[in-house]
Amino acid sequence: MHITRLALTDFRSYGELSLELGAGVSTFSGANGEGKTNLVEAVGYLATLGSHRVATDAPLVRRGADRAVLRAAVTGAQGSTLVEIELNPGRANRVRLNRAPRPRPRDILGALRTVLFAPEDLALVKGDPGERRRFLDELLVATAPRYAAVRADYERVLKQRTALLKSAGAKGHLRGAARESMTSTLDAWDAQLARAGAPLLAGRMRLAAALRPHLTAAYEAVSGGPAGEASGMSYRSSALNNDEFSDVRAVETAALETALLKALAAVRASELDRGVCLVGPHRDELELFVGGLPARGYASHGESWSLSLALRLASFALLREGREDPVLILDDVFAELDTGRRDRLAVLVAGAEQVLITAAVPADVPGVLAGARFTVGAGAVARAG
Ligand SMILES: Nc1ncnc2c1ncn2[C@@H]1O[C@H](COP(=O)(O)OP(=O)(O)OP(=O)(O)O)[C@@H](O)[C@H]1O
Ligand SMILES: [Mg+2]
Repeated sequence: MHITRLALTDFRSYGELSLELGAGVSTFSGANGEGKTNLVEAVGYLATLGSHRVATDAPLVRRGADRAVLRAAVTGAQGSTLVEIELNPGRANRVRLNRAPRPRPRDILGALRTVLFAPEDLALVKGDPGERRRFLDELLVATAPRYAAVRADYERVLKQRTALLKSAGAKGHLRGAARESMTSTLDAWDAQLARAGAPLLAGRMRLAAALRPHLTAAYEAVSGGPAGEASGMSYRSSALNNDEFSDVRAVETAALETALLKALAAVRASELDRGVCLVGPHRDELELFVGGLPARGYASHGESWSLSLALRLASFALLREGREDPVLILDDVFAELDTGRRDRLAVLVAGAEQVLITAAVPADVPGVLAGARFTVGAGAVARAG
């Protein structure tokens, strides 16, 4: 699929912007702080309902304005689709598909699919496990939008169960009937957490297994390194004996639900002591490796950078398998790479249906990626050739 038009109103530094885009490569260049990343951030938001830079919507609305509007016309296998989002920080956002309002923002997921790589992605390798869980969950939603509901369900149950654990812990002296009632309430929440967590866990485990060969291939392609530098990943569940579930093709959601219940029962006492939920998908880790060593804490800056880029390229390869290409977005990637890596990356992405590239220095972008060129400056975007 590709975007044919992007229009923004009061988004970040843009008052009013309307941009015609074509398939193939488009490069956006301009000095630091002129609005290149703002542009691709808007595209990413239209696809994922979230920014890759901030967790809340307020910074996305232009200073002094009280709402922002994002629009993209998308052409793909389904014909043409107009996706629109109105950001109202502090109030509900509104979305429309082909001008028809939809009740929930997540109803537009899938209309535009993107894979965005940005410098912030270094956190995928160097950051907390939560960064990698979010990466997996977002990719899961991109592969199948129904996972947005699965994820929301789990978050809701987790929040309620955690609140209950906290209050139960505070009443640790409960006796007799009160204690029995608390126990049976907790049992019910264990069952709910296991039921909500199992499909999320199953989805993540299958996704990590499907992504692994793409990651290895992408890392090799980007690093151009010998096999000794090979990268890898493995999903470690906080609730499972991971060896028992090593063949993910055979993993069944029902078996995971049972395993989650068992794990919850085993940690009940310490959960009550600490007032936190100790097992479940929210405590899992996606382990990343370079050359057989854990990437976090061992990989060099360059290796970490290549690995985070490889994670996005692997996502792109996975998402295009048997389906139309998502839009590939590379924010500020070329400046960080040496010439060899730049050229290999260029070859890798040149065949994508649509690639949006930002660069402060246009000469950093290899010539084979010549396409539409835009300059970004003074709050506007102009076609340069
Ligand atoms: N809500 C907002 N209202 C007004 N201006 C904003 C808002 N959010 C960000 N900006 C401005 O947008 C600019 C940053 O834009 P952006 O991150 O797109 O720059 P860039 O072109 O990608 O720069 P670099 O080359 O350094 O990555 C900053 O000057 C910032 O002050
Ligand atoms: Mg930028």
